[in-house]
Amino acid sequence: MDLMTKITALAKRRGFIFQSSEIYGGYQGFWDYGPVGVELKKNIKNEWWKTMVYGREDVVGIDASIIMNPIVWEKSGHLKAFTDPLVECKECHKRFRADHEELLNAHSKEHNSKMEWTGAKTFNLMTEVLLGVTEPKEKAYLRGEITQGVFVNFKNVVDSTRVKIPFGIAQIGKAFRNEVTPGNLTFRSKEFEQMELEYFVKPDENESKKTFEKFKEIRMDWYKNLGMDPKKLHFADHTPDKIAHYAKYATDIEYEAPFGWSEMEGIHHRGDYDLSNHGLKYRDGVTNEEYIPWVIETSGGVDRATLFFLIDSYTEDGDRVYLKLNPKIAPYKVAVFPLLGNKPELTAKAREVYQDLKKSMVVTWDDRGNIGKRYFAQDEIGTPWCVTVDFDTEKDNSVTVRDRDTGKQERIAIDKLQDYFQNRLR
Ligand code: GAP
Repeated sequence: MDLMTKITALAKRRGFIFQSSEIYGGYQGFWDYGPVGVELKKNIKNEWWKTMVYGREDVVGIDASIIMNPIVWEKSGHLKAFTDPLVECKECHKRFRADHEELLNAHSKEHNSKMEWTGAKTFNLMTEVLLGVTEPKEKAYLRGEITQGVFVNFKNVVDSTRVKIPFGIAQIGKAFRNEVTPGNLTFRSKEFEQMELEYFVKPDENESKKTFEKFKEIRMDWYKNLGMDPKKLHFADHTPDKIAHYAKYATDIEYEAPFGWSEMEGIHHRGDYDLSNHGLKYRDGVTNEEYIPWVIETSGGVDRATLFFLIDSYTEDGDRVYLKLNPKIAPYKVAVFPLLGNKPELTAKAREVYQDLKKSMVVTWDDRGNIGKRYFAQDEIGTPWCVTVDFDTEKDNSVTVRDRDTGKQERIAIDKLQDYFQNRLR
């Protein structure tokens, strides 16, 4: 079985990712996160916010609406330029992205290579919605990037806070793209989440280039510090044929997925493209100088990071499968078990331990089946530590703590457990 098939099966079996509307046959390009998937994704977003907002003095956050005045998208250039080139199979009329060579080749093979493609046509990725109660309803759009919500609030943020250039506005939220060929689990979806920083600087080639390079480093380090294999990460500069309509220059952080090197995050020098299109300027409070700031953007995909953390952490060790997730992003930090589920004295003590740990971290409980099966399940979820209350607990007031990665077990006093885990989570 190939790795993507294994990951997809594990994601469903353990409650990370389900197909959207599965009971009705699913809906192409849409996904749901299950009980552990939502925790993993939330932890990734929290770690991002901690680094990009709380860890800095020059960044504030916002949460803009998904649907905005359609003028925003006219001004941002998305209605004209946010397009993908499409080709159509002349035989079965299926459409594919002209730049997805692998899919085109695979489709040609299905037709014994006899078929022909139409020339490439452009296809707009914005998702239309109809609003209002009277006909004709008003056409609006689900945001194609979360970014524009930051630009249209630029003046509001400057006027309502003490930010001074250089400074950044951060945001995490959903974006929507009418992708032609969604696929590779959540990698290319029609609904997905982005975590973005728009960092405003003075319009200066050298300084903005330095800021661009600095953010490349910050973002790459973030993935590595959370445990992604450095050998599977690299930068890929955008070539002129790939670069977005708003960017002066750009690079991607790519991850080597089972389906090839794939974009995980884009870092763009957007110049003054957006602020000037929205007619916005900045006035320096000290010098009174007025100018249009330039923007360095870091734009990560939450779903892609989640998928690549899943793939990267997937480990097979003989018969054992475990997710070697950094404890900071693991869905549950600890699982607590009574050795036997049908012994009230063990269950009562284990519940006490569980309730106490729950005060400071996300903990799960399991008293089904035998201990081996419970370890097996927690390994597949990526829970770093399992705590078992057994018959000796009564005597020594200690529990067995089992480490996910080494399988090693040690006895820890119950009153030391909080410190034991907190030290490891730092
Ligand atoms: N504001 C800039 C922007 O949106 P982008 O390179 O188009 O730039 C940024 O998107 C990130 O959003 C990508 O690197 C990727 O992680 C994520 N992303 C884009 N399209 C996606 C899709 N269809 N499904 C899942 N994630 C996507």
